[in-house]
Amino acid sequence: MPTPTIEAFFRDHQARVERVLERCLPAADAVPTRLHAAMRYSVLGGGKRLRPILVYATGAALGLDPRSLDAPAAAVELIHAYSLVHDDLPAMDDDDLRRGRPTTHRAFDEATAILTGDALQVLAFEVLAKDPAIGSAAARIATIRILAEASGTAGMAGGQALDLAAVGRRLDLPDLEEMHRRKTGALIRASVLMAAAAAEGLAEAHQAALDDYAKDVGLAFQIQDDILDVEGSTEDIGKQAGADAARSKPTYASILGLDASKQRAQALKVRASERIASFGEKAQILADLAAYVVDRRA
Ligand code: IPE
Ligand code: IPE
Ligand code: MG
Ligand code: MG
Ligand code: MG
Repeated sequence: MPTPTIEAFFRDHQARVERVLERCLPAADAVPTRLHAAMRYSVLGGGKRLRPILVYATGAALGLDPRSLDAPAAAVELIHAYSLVHDDLPAMDDDDLRRGRPTTHRAFDEATAILTGDALQVLAFEVLAKDPAIGSAAARIATIRILAEASGTAGMAGGQALDLAAVGRRLDLPDLEEMHRRKTGALIRASVLMAAAAAEGLAEAHQAALDDYAKDVGLAFQIQDDILDVEGSTEDIGKQAGADAARSKPTYASILGLDASKQRAQALKVRASERIASFGEKAQILADLAAYVVDRRA
C-alpha cells in the first residue's frame, strides 16, 4: 500500500478518533446533564487531535491494526482535553477562549469545569481498562501505566506545577526545558509509547528510537506553542494571542527570544526525523508529523 499523504492521514484519523470519542463520552441527556454537556463541549468539535494522530501514526509505522489503537488514541485525547479545561481555569492561566470558543468555565461555571476535568481524567483510564482490542492484558496494563505516568507529577501535572511556580521568575534553559518536557512533552511521548506497547515484543532499538523521536517532537510542540502565542493571531490559534506575555508566563520566546526558539524547534524537527530513519518508508507519516508540529500556524 502506498503511504497516504499527511493531509489524508490527518483527515481520516481525526474522523476516526472523533467517532471513538463520541462513543465513549456520556450522553448529553443522561443525569447529571450539565456535567455531561460540559464534558462533551470540552472534548468534541475542535482541536487538532495531534496526540491521537501520533498514536495511529506510530501504529502505522509498526504495522498495527488501527482498531487496536482506538482506546489509547481516545484516552490520550481525554487526558489532554481535561488538562486544557484545568489549564484555562482562573486559578491557572485564566483564559476565556479555547479552540475558538469560550473556555469550559466560561461556557458553564468553574465548579463544572473542575468536575469536567476530574471526570475526563478517569474516563481515559476506564476506556483503556475495558477495551478488548488492545491485545493482551499485559499490553493493556502497559498502556495504562504509560498514560498514568505521563499525566502525573513526573509528567503533565508536575509540569503545570513548575509552570505556575515560575510565573514572573526567570527560568534558566534546563529548567525551562524540563518544564516543557513534563507539561506537554510527556503526553506526546505517551501517545507514541502506548502504540509501541500495543505492538508487544518490539525490539529494544526500535522502542528507543521511537521514544527519542517522541521526546523531540514533544518539546518542539511546546516551543512552537510558545512562538504562536507571540506570532499567531487569536483567530488562527483559537485562543487569546499574547496571553503568555500578559501573564509573565515562562516561555521559550520570553527566555530564549523568538529567533533562537525557532532555530531550536527546527533543529528538533530534523533530529526527530533522523531518530526514526531506521523504520524507512513506514515512518514517513511520523517524519511528516515532526515537520507539522514545528511548521504549523495553529
Ligand atoms: C495546546 O495543545 C496545549 C498545549 C499542550 C501546548 P494543542 O495545540 O494540541 O491544542 P488542541 O488540542 O489542538 O486544541
Ligand atoms: C499547556 O500549556 C500545557 C497543558 C498541560 C495544558 P499552555 O498553557 O501554554 O497551553 P495553552 O497555550 O493555554 O494552550
Ligand atoms: Mg498553562
Ligand atoms: Mg494555557
Ligand atoms: Mg501556550
